Amino acid sequence: MHPRLIRIIDQIEDSDLRKKVRKLLLEPQIIVEGSVYSGMGFEISPAGLYKHHSYPGGLLDHTIATAELALSLAKIVKEIYHGSVDRDLVLSGIILHDVFKTLIYQSEKGYRYVNSDLGERLDHLSLITAELIRRNFPIDLVHIVCAHHGGQAGPTWPRTVEALICHLADQTDSQLNGEVLRAARQLVRRVIGEEIPLLSSEEAFNIVNEKTLHGLEGVQKAFSRIMKSRSPSGKTA
Ligand SMILES: [Fe+2]
Ligand SMILES: [Fe+2]
Repeated sequence: MHPRLIRIIDQIEDSDLRKKVRKLLLEPQIIVEGSVYSGMGFEISPAGLYKHHSYPGGLLDHTIATAELALSLAKIVKEIYHGSVDRDLVLSGIILHDVFKTLIYQSEKGYRYVNSDLGERLDHLSLITAELIRRNFPIDLVHIVCAHHGGQAGPTWPRTVEALICHLADQTDSQLNGEVLRAARQLVRRVIGEEIPLLSSEEAFNIVNEKTLHGLEGVQKAFSRIMKSRSPSGKTA
C-alpha cells in the first residue's frame, strides 16, 4: 500500500474501524450473483473516465487530496465555529468513498479508460454502499459514503457535519482537478493540434503554469518535456 495512504489510515484512532478500512482497501472486491469482481489495484486506478483524475494513479491522488481538504475543513469547524467533528468517520469516509472506482473502469488499448462490464450496470457509489452495509460498517460511515455526491447528483443529501465535510472536500478536489485538466487539454490542442492521452494532474498543472509564465511557447516546451519523459528512452519521439 502507498505510504501516503498508510499515513492517512494510521490517523484513524478507533482500532476496529481502522482494521476494517484497511481490509477493504487491501481487498477491494465485491461478490455479485456469485461472481467475484476485483478490478484494478487502488494505486493504479483512475478516479474518472475523462472529467477528473482520469489517469493511472488518479484515484490515489484524489483520495489523498480529498483527505487533506476534509481535515482542513474539520479543523475550521472545530477551531473557528466551535462545532464538533468525528475525525475517524471523516477519514474513513474519504478513504472509502471512491474505492470501487477500481471495479467500474478498465483500460482500453492503454491510452484511455472505459466502463467495465460491472461499471456498465452499476456505479461506484451504489456498490460501495452495499458492500459497507454487508461488512457491517457504522451507519454514520455508510451515510457519509452514500451522500458524498450530494443530493442533486446522488441518492441522498449529506445530513451530518461529517458527511457535509466529505461531500465538499470531494467536490472541491474533483473541480480543482477537472478544471486544470480541461484547461491543459485545450492549450495542448491549440498549440500542438492533438491531445495527450491519460494526462496526469502533475502534467496538467505544469502546462498551465508554463502558459502563465511563458505564454504559448511555454505550452510547447511543457508538451515536449512531457512526451520526452514518457518515451521509454527518455528522448523525444
Ligand atoms: Fe464518487
Ligand atoms: Fe471522489
